[in-house]
Amino acid sequence: MDIPPIRDRTVLVTGGGGFIGSHLVDALIDHNDVRVLDNFSTGDRERVHDDATVLEGDVCDRDVVERATRDVDLIFHEAAIVDVPATVDRPAETNEVNFEAGLALLEQARDEDARVVLASSAAVYGHPAELPVPETASPEPSSPYGVQKLALEEYARLYTELYDVPTVSLRYFNVYGPRQQGPYSGVISTFLEQARAGEAITVEGDGEQTRDFVHVADVVRANLLAATTDDVGDAYNVGTGTRASILELAATIRDVVGADVPIVHRAARAGDVRHSGASISKARRELGFEATIDLEAGLRDLAGEEQFGDVYEHARTILPDRERE
Ligand code: UD1
Repeated sequence: MDIPPIRDRTVLVTGGGGFIGSHLVDALIDHNDVRVLDNFSTGDRERVHDDATVLEGDVCDRDVVERATRDVDLIFHEAAIVDVPATVDRPAETNEVNFEAGLALLEQARDEDARVVLASSAAVYGHPAELPVPETASPEPSSPYGVQKLALEEYARLYTELYDVPTVSLRYFNVYGPRQQGPYSGVISTFLEQARAGEAITVEGDGEQTRDFVHVADVVRANLLAATTDDVGDAYNVGTGTRASILELAATIRDVVGADVPIVHRAARAGDVRHSGASISKARRELGFEATIDLEAGLRDLAGEEQFGDVYEHARTILPDRERE
């Protein structure tokens, strides 16, 4: 997977204090001028690389966004309210962050001649009718979150078509990896915490539901490819192309942590998606993307077996063109 080098650019990462954004900052910081816009509501300042310029503020604040985007070449838009139930409770309010702020960024990119890479989500598919789901599947979001992401994708596509703003949307599946934390951080960090604490692992429902778990280092790589591709104005799935059940996940986590904890079941989540898995044919063909870290290896790394050590060290070994001179 050859990634053309990204150098000497002024780059804005919104949500740069978040889980995915902070990893992106680290991948870019050595050779670029990197700005972070984050209100640190769920993000963490400690996670932001010291060499990045931090603008603490709201992505909905037009003045702040204007300052953050001045003379910028490249924008990675990772800031969002990722708490799906919050978008169900407050669709209009969350729309301001997840949709309107993104639209304002596209407008700034138009003024600044910048490229925009948008963090979208598998949530645009809702309950996918086809597995693995290709980008050509008819999107039918089952939450305001999915609608907000889809609407922004559509604007991004139009900004490329109408105004020549290079945009790429990345539909993240279930992302996991170091620095994932907090109440909306996902099943892997919850299970790891439970196993480490010697507590029961709580499977919701029968555990036969499946997900496509993709490591954050691969998600970073997809972003770097999106930042350099000629195939703009389009959306791509970012997953591994394989699925694991939640029960398999629970068993693997118990194994890699080496904890003798029970796996218990509790009520299934209302509206839970039964199966979710990405077809990555298009990303492979057009971006040259391939997920490189399989779930078990990623989990062993997270559990502290240091198979890869630091995730950037790992990224470096598989990004020879970008990082090794
Ligand atoms: C994920 C995304 C979400 C996105 C959606 C799109 C994360 C953290 N969230 O939600 O942003 O909108 O995909 O499809 O990646 N589970 C348990 N026990 C627990 C916690 C969870 O069994 O303690 C189960 C859940 O019921 C669910 C599965 O694990 O079936 C995955 O849950 P979660 O990690 O929250 O992600 P998604 O709901 O897939």
